[in-house]
Formats: sequence, structure tokens, C-alpha cells
Amino acid sequence: MEDLLYKNNLDKDDVIQLLSLRGDDQRRLLARALEVKLQHLDNKVHLRGLIEYSNRCFKSCLYCGVRGGNDKVHRYTLTDEEVLDCARQAMQLHYGSIAIQSGERTDKAFTDKIAELVKEIKRISDGQLGITLSLGEQSENVYRQWFEAGAHRYLLRIESSDEELYYKIHPHDARHDFRHRLACIDALLDIGYQTGTGVMIGLPFQTVENLADDLLFFRDKNVAMVGMGPFIPHQETPLYQYADTIPPAEERLNMTLKMIAVLRLMMPEINMVAATADQTLDPLGREKAIMAGANVIMPNLTPTSHREDYLIYPDKACVGDKPEECQSCLDIRMHAIQHEILYDEWGDSVAFTKHAQKK
Ligand code: 5AD
Ligand code: FES
Repeated sequence: MEDLLYKNNLDKDDVIQLLSLRGDDQRRLLARALEVKLQHLDNKVHLRGLIEYSNRCFKSCLYCGVRGGNDKVHRYTLTDEEVLDCARQAMQLHYGSIAIQSGERTDKAFTDKIAELVKEIKRISDGQLGITLSLGEQSENVYRQWFEAGAHRYLLRIESSDEELYYKIHPHDARHDFRHRLACIDALLDIGYQTGTGVMIGLPFQTVENLADDLLFFRDKNVAMVGMGPFIPHQETPLYQYADTIPPAEERLNMTLKMIAVLRLMMPEINMVAATADQTLDPLGREKAIMAGANVIMPNLTPTSHREDYLIYPDKACVGDKPEECQSCLDIRMHAIQHEILYDEWGDSVAFTKHAQKK
């Protein structure tokens, strides 16, 4: 097993072995991943101020608390002024980047509005704020329009790279097409976005083989960023019926940490997020993810009055906290684990920047 921690080009069996480690062996894996991260990326943590733009969604993913089918959710869309205020707040707090996330819509009113907001944020920040979008599956033209407006990173989790599992956690219909999702990721990579993807960990029916395939998928696609977090059952969703078949919270977080660590060994220079969902399962979840190899945190900038309506999963961390509280809290938390937040920088993926230079 020591060999595997230093091996190049891990194959599927290696990855399964690493994901199956426990106890002291697991601790050695996490320590090695931290060492690799520090060698390549130093102890710097990048922030993306998260703006949850709208919870209106025409999809019905079976895990998601704001899925179109949940009529208990109060639907909202931020006004332009609210979005711009969030961006101004990000600048005041010296966050170098923001991420705009939303339920999925593909109508022109929505896609044009996003382009307009991206341009406006670029304008008021004098080009200083980096913009990540996470607005689901769109046409190649729309992705291009947003890229030209000034967004330079895009997150679209594959959720599971296994087609069969994908259809167990999504309805099998035209709106939830696995092949289309793959095509979207390829389009984003082609256009030149720093592209991020990711999966949930601890889903019903998910096996360690599935998880190993997910990691190999990220490496095959040569993505610049990965976001992985534990699945947290939401009572108002169809997948809740399987809540008692999934591993307990501690196990799901544990597996998340191992996934981060193994991926750090495989892709030393990508950006990897310590998901807020980690902190839902463990008060120190995000710190643990950072210590396992993650290097990005996404503190919430959404106006507090709307956060309760964006509960993708229950008990989301920091829902009641003001952005400035999150900032000092995060500073303290990162210092406690000998990490340092990098302010006023985009915090691009080193993997991506190097790759772009080679082209
Ligand atoms: N538990 C954990 N993560 C979830 N997501 C959606 N629903 C849940 C849930 N119940 C994640 C998905 C999505 C991201 C925005 O949130 O991976 O891509
Ligand atoms: Fe939000 Fe700590 S990060 S209060």
C-alpha cells in the first residue's frame, strides 16, 4: 500500500484499494495527499463567494431538495440589484472570485439575463472579480455567449459517471439525459472554460467501483476543477425512501475524504472544493476536506432572506450567518489547520493554467 501512495498512473484496482483503506492506512493516505497538495499548491485556500441566483428549476433530479417537483419550496429569483450587491460585497470582503449557481432554466429571458449580469459584474469590478457559473445544462451557443460575456469557469457535476447509476438518481427522460450531460462537459472544455465536474458520495446503489470510475473519469477528461461532497437525503425527494440503505453520515464523510485524497494523488494541480455538505455532516468537515487535499471553499453570499429557500439538502451549514461572519470564521478555521486564505486573486486552477500555456 505504501507503493500505491507514490505510484504514477493509478489504475482502477489501485484506486479501489486506496478507497477501501481504513484506520491507520487511511490516515497515511490522507497525510500523503496533504503532502502532495502542499508540494504543488502550497497551503493556500481560494474562496468563491457563492450567489444562489434562483431556485426555479425545470428539472426533477431525484436527490435535490429544490427539484421542480417539490411544491413545498417557495420559489425566488434574485433581482439584478441583489446580484450586484452580492458582487460588491465579494469585492469588499476581498474575495477574488464569485460563483453564480441556480436551478436550471434554458429560456432566452434567463440566458440573456445571465449574460447581462456577468457583463455588469465585470464592469463594476473593473474586470477584477473572477466569475464561475454553475447553471446546469445549456446549449453550446449559450455556454459560448456566457464565456464571451466574461465568465471563465463553469461547474457541472456529472453526479455519477456510471450511466446506470445516473438513471437511478435521475428520472429517465429527455430532460435528464446522461449523454447530453456528458456532451455539455465536452462543450465547456472545448470552449475553453476552466471546467469543473464532480459527484455525490454515498448515494443509494453506489458502489466503490462506481466511485473509482468517477475518479478515472475526472482524469480522462482532464478537468481543471472537481467538487465532490456527501449525499444528504432530503425528506421531500424520491430518493429519501432509500435513506436507510446508505452508509451512515460518518462513513459518507470518510469516503468523501478518501475520494479527495486519492484524486489529489492522481491530479496534483487541480482545484478541489471542500463542500459545504461536508460541514453539514461534521462541524469540522470542511477543515477535514482541506487536510485531505481540497483547496477551495465557497462561502455563501446569498442574501440571508433567501437562503432557507435554497436547501438542496437539509441542515445546510452557515444558512443564518452573514457574509462578514463567514469571512472571519473561515480565516480562523483555516489558520487553525495551518492554511492561509488567498484574497483578491482569481485562484485559477494550476492544472489548467499550465495546460493552456502548453497549447
Ligand atoms: N445531497 C448532497 N448534495 C446534493 N446536491 C444536490 N442534492 C444533494 C443532496 N441531497 C449537489 C449536486 C448538485 C449540487 C449543486 O448539489 O451534486 O450538482
Ligand atoms: Fe460561514 Fe463559518 S464559514 S460561519
